[in-house]
Amino acid sequence: MAQDAHGLPLTTDPAGARAWDHAIAGYLGYRADTAARLAALLETAPDFGLAHCLAGYFALLGFHAALLPAAAAAAARARPLLAGATAREQAHLAALDAWTAGDAPRAVAIWDAILTDHPADALAFRLAHFVNFWLGRAGRMRASVLAVESRWDPAWPAYTSLLACRCFAFEECGLYLEAEAAGRAAIARDPGDLWAAHGVAHVLEMQGRRAEGIGWIERLAPGWAAANNLRHHLYWHAAMFHLERGEHDRVLALYDTGFRDLTSPLTRAQPDLYIDVQNAVSMLYRLGRHGVDVGDRWDELADKATARIGDAQSAFTLPHWAMALAASGRQAEGARFLDALAAFAAGETPLAALVRDVALPICRAALLAPRDPAASVAAMRPALGDMPNLGGSHAQQDVLEQLFLDCALRAGLADDARLLLERVAGRHPLPPARRAGYAAAARSLGFG
Ligand SMILES: [Fe+2]
Repeated sequence: MAQDAHGLPLTTDPAGARAWDHAIAGYLGYRADTAARLAALLETAPDFGLAHCLAGYFALLGFHAALLPAAAAAAARARPLLAGATAREQAHLAALDAWTAGDAPRAVAIWDAILTDHPADALAFRLAHFVNFWLGRAGRMRASVLAVESRWDPAWPAYTSLLACRCFAFEECGLYLEAEAAGRAAIARDPGDLWAAHGVAHVLEMQGRRAEGIGWIERLAPGWAAANNLRHHLYWHAAMFHLERGEHDRVLALYDTGFRDLTSPLTRAQPDLYIDVQNAVSMLYRLGRHGVDVGDRWDELADKATARIGDAQSAFTLPHWAMALAASGRQAEGARFLDALAAFAAGETPLAALVRDVALPICRAALLAPRDPAASVAAMRPALGDMPNLGGSHAQQDVLEQLFLDCALRAGLADDARLLLERVAGRHPLPPARRAGYAAAARSLGFG
């Protein structure tokens, strides 16, 4: 039986195994040609069940409802092919089924079980890291790293990816020293590792090391030519550093040429990818709070929000869609958006429950914000505590906290504004007075 790069058995021939390793390396490395690598794998080994499973996983990575049938079709192709395969390969199919059905926690539980028996399974490890992140489970991301790292050989190329995940997981747990060391070790092995570059950028963001952050990204960016959309998110991080320094022209330039470049091949191929939409919406919202004229940039986002009404696959993106509709004054579309979300939330999956309990109230708040800030605060207040369950990093969640803070201030609800500042101050190493998004509110409320 053939083996993968980590010595795990694969039910295919050696050529299929090599093509598998190439596709996995593309996935771990955020390479833009990963879909082409998958196509080559399927052509090389059309009867390799796990390869079809991988196709299903890849269809789900973009959190797009239109791709759910592709994921289900891939699982249907994999099922008979995996009949005589290893238990590990069959378990991947069960995880794909669960994830496709809206039960991401069950998919993670299956990947964790795979890793208990096969800690070297890079795919199970990386998918668990990804999905745990989008479920807001920083502690589980860290536990997963700790569970497998002693079983990984530093000689494996994928070990760089493990270090990158260690960096980000520890960073999201507030363990910045360990995080930065792991991220820098990964970059020393591979300066083009985007996830490691990203994890260190988060450390620098959380610690307020803005000059270092800009230098870090500018130094590494030339190595990202073959990278996928994650490189947009790195430019968003660069813009976050510039925003903190009040360099709004630089932020807008990065918006147009770095992370929301509508002419780039990556954006044209996926014009409404969740991470790109989050980058764009959250930055326009932040710029608006600083009184910057962003021109007509909201309109294309609102158009895409309208086209995605009813698609609730990415819970954390939903408030961003709502913010785009609100900023463009599209009240009728906003009402349709909420109705469709409510219909989705009536389902029985864990994703439906998350939308019902957390995403929907925040979307309602975002749409109420321009005309009734007090009602917006009232809608959002019960969901504040569970907001991290939508996924997204501390740096990304911030924009929702700023939405609540703005509405509280505009409605004259000083207790709510103070509550928000206390939450933010308790979780972030920098005091609100040292952060652009909170400094004015902190001053006006006499808050540290
Ligand atoms: Fe980030």
